[in-house]
Amino acid sequence: MPLPPPTAHMPDSPPSRIESAAFETERIHAPPVRDDRLAEITHEPWSIGARKIDFRYGLAPLAGYTQRPFRVALRELGGLGLATTDLVHAGKLLVGNAFSKQLIATSERDRPLSVQLFGAEPAHVATAARWLEDLGYGGIDLNMGCPMAKVNGSGGGARLMCDPAGATNLVAQVVSAVSIPVTVKMRLGWDARSLSAPQLARQFEDAGAAAITIHGRTRAQGFTGQVSREGIAATVAAVRSIPVIGNGDVRTVEDAFSMRRETGCAAVAIGRGAMLDPWIFRKLRDYVETGHYQEPEPKEQIDFLVTHFREMESLFGDKSTQLFRKFAGWYGARLGIPLDLEDRLRRCGSLTEFDEIVAEIRERHGHEPCRVPTALIKVPNGPNELW
Ligand SMILES: Cc1cc2nc3c(=O)[nH]c(=O)nc-3n(C[C@H](O)[C@H](O)[C@H](O)COP(=O)(O)O)c2cc1C
Repeated sequence: MPLPPPTAHMPDSPPSRIESAAFETERIHAPPVRDDRLAEITHEPWSIGARKIDFRYGLAPLAGYTQRPFRVALRELGGLGLATTDLVHAGKLLVGNAFSKQLIATSERDRPLSVQLFGAEPAHVATAARWLEDLGYGGIDLNMGCPMAKVNGSGGGARLMCDPAGATNLVAQVVSAVSIPVTVKMRLGWDARSLSAPQLARQFEDAGAAAITIHGRTRAQGFTGQVSREGIAATVAAVRSIPVIGNGDVRTVEDAFSMRRETGCAAVAIGRGAMLDPWIFRKLRDYVETGHYQEPEPKEQIDFLVTHFREMESLFGDKSTQLFRKFAGWYGARLGIPLDLEDRLRRCGSLTEFDEIVAEIRERHGHEPCRVPTALIKVPNGPNELW
């Protein structure tokens, strides 16, 4: 059976504003950590293999959200370390699938970037990795964390964590095919009874992996429950010298610092927190450098919306208005615009109309309080065997 496109799990319908969800806005504005506790972690540039990275707070992939347009808009704000593409099916990339090629779209401003690959056939993944290196990409990330049945069913994603020998063989084959750093993103394990991440991380290191990103949940947890920082710390303790990147539920500057303090991880990957607050990376940089940071003014937030849309237009052309719809609820809540205007943003059908809507947003933002629920970034729900 042919594999579905890697983002097949993304909901088609754009989210609408959700009034009853758990709002994160108050936490986003929480006061930052005390200076003396900041001293407990290092803020120097760091490295993944030979690749030097200026900032320790990077972007975790959110398929369907964090493609080149969003990444480039984030880069303009500053402070973003490593970013990673959405997961890309290696076999499809090799046959020139148009959607897969769009997923690896990048530009000079979109650096440093790793391409995240998945696929059950190590030879395909290795060949795709080498092809990407030849094209000038700086790193390959192997997905072993995706909980989606369709990805797992092909033997990819989190399923690989159930096959330590096969997973290690995949890492070794990709490492031997390229000279750029190869990293792995995984979860704590398949379920609470098989917390295999520490052991696997060590095996992957021995096979040549240059870093591990660890989402502190099991596959069985999906996106529910708490991230286990103990589980992330156990993975940090298990490797000999490669950096471990902690991931999961980081929404604020303080969350990012405490993730590092409590787990000892070298860096942090932020996914939904970057959607909730794209300024989080700049805030982290500013706080480290100056001891304080500022919230973005409404004008800057609207400019971000425009940059994001223009970048979508340059990648997706006429489809950009349709693809932008899933961001409408988020921008509506973030900018506190009235629902009728948010609705127009959601239904926007042309580039001219977009400009008209933005002109109106400039007049009518702040109409409602800025309340951005995490629920606006849809995660699969229900029994995860059925995802
Ligand atoms: C909508 C959505 C799409 C995701 N897509 C990917 C993906 O393509 N590759 C991947 O490794 N993880 C993916 N993840 C997992 C995130 O990278 C991250 O591990 C998880 O959301 C926990 O981090 P966060 O709380 O900072 O978002 C996705 C998560 C969500 C919610």
